[in-house]
Amino acid sequence: MPNISKILGFFLVLILLNGCQNRRQPVEQKAEMSEKGLKDYYQDYFPVGVAVYPQALDKGPEATLIQKHFVSMTPENVMKMGPIHPQKDSFNWAPADKIVAFAKEHQLKMRGHALCWHNQTPDWLFVDDEGNDVSKEELLDRLKSHITEVASRYKGTLYAWDVVNEAISDQKDEFYRKSKWYQICGEEFIARAFEYARAADPNAELFYNDYEVINPVKRQKIYDLVKGLKENGVPIDGVGIQGHWSIYEPDESTLKETIEQFTSLGLKVQITELDLSVYPKEHSLREKRDADTDEFTLEQKQKQVEQYDMIFRVFREYKDDLNAVTFWNISDKYSWLDHFPVPDRKDYPLLFDEDHEPKEAYYKVINFE
Ligand code: G3I
Repeated sequence: MPNISKILGFFLVLILLNGCQNRRQPVEQKAEMSEKGLKDYYQDYFPVGVAVYPQALDKGPEATLIQKHFVSMTPENVMKMGPIHPQKDSFNWAPADKIVAFAKEHQLKMRGHALCWHNQTPDWLFVDDEGNDVSKEELLDRLKSHITEVASRYKGTLYAWDVVNEAISDQKDEFYRKSKWYQICGEEFIARAFEYARAADPNAELFYNDYEVINPVKRQKIYDLVKGLKENGVPIDGVGIQGHWSIYEPDESTLKETIEQFTSLGLKVQITELDLSVYPKEHSLREKRDADTDEFTLEQKQKQVEQYDMIFRVFREYKDDLNAVTFWNISDKYSWLDHFPVPDRKDYPLLFDEDHEPKEAYYKVINFE
């Protein structure tokens, strides 16, 4: 009879060895993960991009994250009209040039943002020397010269431009936003902006870009606008769905409907400004209240993991329709949502945490069959 304690000992050794191997596996998996970036996991799906500011490109953790995880950059602010064209006769090229140079050095693609917007406009734009509104002809001339200068300078460098940004109203019963552009030019500025952009950089893909596209009322207006532009021969190539969402929205069917509504037009569709706030979405600025703690709770974390999981599952499903997905900011260290809608309330909307480390949501997004 074999000694029972020897047999038990033999099995005990087997179990321990097996346990050691199992413990080694996650470490190996993690090592493998750390060599690949988000862009590698999604290379058969769509290009993944990120909005950047020039300081992020100086040697440091943000520059490392950009190179490792993204194939494309969008300047967050420095190509907007106010920052890049502060005076009528002078441009501030240096910050935008710095991003373009980094893109060239590291073989990243670039989207331009944004040629015509009601926000972040320079003081001189809408007024004459006496401070009166300029005429429609003068404003269209200014728009043409702005777009021609900026789009020509970066011709061949940017693969896409957000040409017109957020021209549709948030008000239920109003079609166009009553911006200064609209007040002076009527709707015509939209078509003209696309024409000027096409003339300046014939190879760039030209986008109309907007937020709250998941809202069916606003979405229908955006759809009607771009459909009309296309039917009238305006050179528009695509629609940018910004994607400033939250852990509470959109739901799966709304997201699918949103993507499908625009692909049905035969236009390119991009998610241009993705982030998932951990707070319920609010669209106007307000003061911080006592209840606005800065804590990233376990419940919010879990909800964010689930929401990112769902959203990227849908994106993968629609890979043939999605031309690109771009995050708005790099990591939770800095997001524009730290200042909006509540100034100085910390938000945690991205896939990398405040120490630039991948969050649980990141691992969820890269772990798919
Ligand atoms: O550069 C000035 C600085 O000189 C000044 O001291 C400081 C004081 O507040 O302000 C700085 O400008 C800020 C700028 O960002 C650069 O940091 C502006 O106040 C601030 O309003 C501006 O916010 C930007 C916002 O657009 C303006 O509406 C955000 O960074 C930018 O992320 C955000 O991006 C927009 C997209 O372009 C279009 N879609 C929505 C998206 C989020 O609002």
